[in-house]
Amino acid sequence: MVTRYVMSIDQGTTSTRCILFDQRGRLVSVTQREHRQHFPRPGWVEHDAVQIWRNLERIAPQALVQAGIGPEQVVAIGIANQRETTLLWDRRTGVPLGRAIVWQDTRTDALVEEFAARPDAPGVQERCGLPLAAYFSAPRIRWLLDHTPGLRERAERGEVLFGTMESWLIWNLTGGPEGGLHVTDVTNAGRTLLMDLASLRWDPWLLDFFGVPRAMLPEIRPSAEPYGTATRVLPGVRITAALGDQQAALFGQTCFSPGEAKCTYGTGGFLLLNTGAEPVRSEHGLLTTVGYQVGRERAVYALEGPIAVTGALVQWFRDGLGLINSAPEIETLARTVEDNGGCYIVPAFAGLFAPHWRSEARGVIVGLTSYITKGHLARAVLEATAWQTREVVDAMNADSGLDLKTLKVDGGMTADNLLMQFIADVLNAPVVRPMVAETVSLGAAYAAGLAVGYWPDLEGLRRNWHRAAQWLPAMEPGRRAAEYDNWRRAVERAVGWVR
Ligand code: G3P
Repeated sequence: MVTRYVMSIDQGTTSTRCILFDQRGRLVSVTQREHRQHFPRPGWVEHDAVQIWRNLERIAPQALVQAGIGPEQVVAIGIANQRETTLLWDRRTGVPLGRAIVWQDTRTDALVEEFAARPDAPGVQERCGLPLAAYFSAPRIRWLLDHTPGLRERAERGEVLFGTMESWLIWNLTGGPEGGLHVTDVTNAGRTLLMDLASLRWDPWLLDFFGVPRAMLPEIRPSAEPYGTATRVLPGVRITAALGDQQAALFGQTCFSPGEAKCTYGTGGFLLLNTGAEPVRSEHGLLTTVGYQVGRERAVYALEGPIAVTGALVQWFRDGLGLINSAPEIETLARTVEDNGGCYIVPAFAGLFAPHWRSEARGVIVGLTSYITKGHLARAVLEATAWQTREVVDAMNADSGLDLKTLKVDGGMTADNLLMQFIADVLNAPVVRPMVAETVSLGAAYAAGLAVGYWPDLEGLRRNWHRAAQWLPAMEPGRRAAEYDNWRRAVERAVGWVR
């Protein structure tokens, strides 16, 4: 019998990866290629979508070669992608109109302030579940429409298309240069500020509020259902899933029941809590977002706390300060001291995301004395990730009325035992890591495989989840409370720094 596999494509902020999974959810082959980060001005971050497409063209066939299989053995493709990154392209030629504007880009700060000052601004969050912030796509689309002569007219005529990265890849996979399907899924559409959270459709009121023509938007589809068949790269293979990468990680961690939560620690940190079939409106600075939708079943919603800077702070410590040579060294350095020596770092490099949503905040280091060494700073760097997680968990507990029981974690930073222990300590809850740490890719593969019956149901997927490591809280409550208080005072300074 011929063995079959599912391919996942993870189009992330720094690289694109292809992974083949077998039926037991095991990795069979992995290929990856980084793309360039463009920083044309302070606060601007861009990606070349053509470079990303070319990378995929290279690495997808390589993954098959590595596994020694042919395309006929791939039952489906699932895509996970960096969310909110905004791209426009020409419908006729398939050529992008400039580079993609990345989710970290803050050029729309002033525009967002203008939107926020409008009397009808509260209607935005009521409809789409998201606060008005430069993080999301709609202000970027508007910015492009305002700054490119003739673009609005072309967009209204349907000559210019908008998409996030999964749309761009599906468009290219299913067509020639002139393109194929123009689709997105509910989890990605839900990050634009343009989708109604209840009906899961583009909302005319929101389109009008942001001044975005309907004709440029893709069709919204469930996260897992056959969208179409690839004509390029892996011709003949069906594309059957697309999810924003953080929702894919929720799926890959098999957080299928209300109350289950995961946090992925990469450049940023993204904590999502499954809240079931009803969206929970946040009153504590979280996002209400779609977790996933399998076929025509009811969508599952989530509360999300995005943290803008987690691993990026370690990168800055390495590249900006040069205090370590490689990211893993931070743990070794932090272990040279007993504690942070009273030092706290709030990495508000481009403002603070959840639960504060203060774009004007800037990073601070507080508590410096001549006693502080680079070891203490290393601790403060790691602890910043833990305290930011704590703030998000507090907001989640307040919004959901439930106390988080366990936090499932994944992502590069979970290799750092000191950090994982500190997170368990400050949350006062167990932290667990699964055997397959590639949860974003796994989630996209699971969704794609479910859509074609490769895996029968969610319960079957749950059985694939195995614990690799667990950290139990061990911090004395008085110390936890005192340090949290210090952290909060440091955050006040970060928020208050810019007048
Ligand atoms: O919302 C942004 C998020 O989707 C980016 O994730 O892993 O590509 O940095 P990542």
